[in-house]
Amino acid sequence: MATETTIRVVSCGELRAGDAGGSVCLRGWVNRRRDHGGLIFIDLRDRDGLTQLVFDPSSPDLPADVFATAERLRAEFVISVNANVRLRLPGTQKADLATGGIEGAVTALTILNESLTPPFVVAGDDDVDENVRLRYRYLDLRRPRMQRNLTVRHKIVKAMRDYFDARGFLEIETPNLIKSTPEGARDYLVPSRVHQGAFYALPQSPQLLKQILMIGGLGRYMQIARCFRDEDPRADRQPEFTQLDVEMTFVEEADVMAMMEGCVIDVWRTALGVSIATPIERLTYEDAIRRFGSDKPDLRFGLELTDVAQIVAGSDFPLFATLAAGAGNRIIALRYPGGAVLSRREFDALAETAKGFGAKGLPYLAFTADGLKGSIVKVVSPEIVAELQRYTAAQTGDALLFVGEAHALASDIAGRLRIEIAERLKLRDPKAFAFCWVYHFPLFERDAETGAITFSHHPFTAPGPGQEDLFDSDPLRVRAQHYDLVLNGYELGSGSIRNHKEAFQRKVFHRLGLDDATIEDRFGFFMEALRFGAPPHGGMALGLDRIVMLACGETSIRDVIAFPKNQLARDLMMDAPSSVPAAALRDLGLSINVKPQPAQL
Ligand code: AMO
Repeated sequence: MATETTIRVVSCGELRAGDAGGSVCLRGWVNRRRDHGGLIFIDLRDRDGLTQLVFDPSSPDLPADVFATAERLRAEFVISVNANVRLRLPGTQKADLATGGIEGAVTALTILNESLTPPFVVAGDDDVDENVRLRYRYLDLRRPRMQRNLTVRHKIVKAMRDYFDARGFLEIETPNLIKSTPEGARDYLVPSRVHQGAFYALPQSPQLLKQILMIGGLGRYMQIARCFRDEDPRADRQPEFTQLDVEMTFVEEADVMAMMEGCVIDVWRTALGVSIATPIERLTYEDAIRRFGSDKPDLRFGLELTDVAQIVAGSDFPLFATLAAGAGNRIIALRYPGGAVLSRREFDALAETAKGFGAKGLPYLAFTADGLKGSIVKVVSPEIVAELQRYTAAQTGDALLFVGEAHALASDIAGRLRIEIAERLKLRDPKAFAFCWVYHFPLFERDAETGAITFSHHPFTAPGPGQEDLFDSDPLRVRAQHYDLVLNGYELGSGSIRNHKEAFQRKVFHRLGLDDATIEDRFGFFMEALRFGAPPHGGMALGLDRIVMLACGETSIRDVIAFPKNQLARDLMMDAPSSVPAAALRDLGLSINVKPQPAQL
């Protein structure tokens, strides 16, 4: 290769018409090989792009043995070539390729490594089973889509670091072998060899450590932090994921929100070249639920929910009358633009969808050109219909779907139906970025399974000013200083102002049912730190994987993580988790009580 290094080494995306006449060295993977008219054409690929190479046996510059070697080339072989750059013949140029005006006439070739036949065509953009992609991730990573996504990820992380650096934040690493920090999921545990029978927990987030950094006087902290949560993976959830984690002293809600909003605007501008309309809309939790049936509303489209209990209370439909009489209920009308054309069967199918969301049924009215139709047409008076139409702005051609249930359930069902309708009508522009803030969340909620009072964000969140009195009398009504940033229906991040007084933090723990002994056992170190001059502080964490996913127009965070786990939380390439040698278990003082399970995909 000595001769190759004496000439200019270029990437596969670099050459342009102006380079014609020069000699270069290129290295990369064989993307495709085509044999045509006695010539061999190779598209050579690296991260930067593709360059067409030509092996012309009639050329005096191509030694015969080089052509013979070229005949051995297959997809994914790694090669190094010397080539003379020349303009492509008219008619063979490719306008959609940056290097499409030139080609390299090869003069020397070295096969640096061969490749087995890949299980899928790396050069193609055909859909490949995701488990196969993950099993051979190194091949998948060679494809332009993953290379682009990881490049965007890098740019986003860099923009975040630059933004916070310019504002006096320190990036501080917090440890991964720690004591449990509760964020509402199960911990991943790591057994200690030195202290047998004892375990570290991997952080669900650096929450307590970043608060202790504030107590430690660091003032402004940020970290691109790895978090671990043992919960079932979903398209937007991984057992191991990354947060942009931030904490600041002497701040109020508005300060943290402004800082994070600035970051997101800056990241979108510098990393993606997109300007976001400011200020980002702010919705209280109550308004978000009332108008959109979700605390992470997708604001790319309207279709707001309308409360119609007062209008339909007097109808002859017994369900409406009963629901309207109960204080804790909601009757929501959801406008389905153009929905009047749906057949009875299609409305039935929609009702089945609603039942899947927890509804008992889905009464509807359809404003067709031939008049009013629908399942409840006989039990609502013309006056009520007119009022409904006025209130919901339903036009001829539209349908109204009615959801009546207990408040939270009705909101949730209608919120999901709203998304379903938007999906059908293609109202969710994949290229739009609709951000919003949701704030004034409840501090506590009822655990759906146990019925016990639990935290809605995490136990370190402070109540809003003046809310402390409700704490004992009506805890579920206490509003928290907790804010979420939402994008296109995804929760991008959460944050809050924290309890910085030990006595109050203890009160919260008591409210959550923890006694002093448990508090001491689980959070003793933290409670002690709060007693040594803890300053007021607050912060936020954004889910980096979700940000990159939405920025790249992907629908799964697995496509923006180099080595993700699959839907069963397995790393298919490394085959993890896997059993360990008996000696390793002995060292840890562990024995396994379950039969080894056969590996599942
Ligand atoms: P929270 O638990 O809301 O808050 O997490 C913040 C953001 O992290 C992302 N996220 C995830 N992303 C991928 N996979 C997961 N399993 C996953 N879980 C969460 C989401 C989420 O909005 N310590 C607090 C923040 C704070 O109060 O400062 C926290 O972790 O985008």
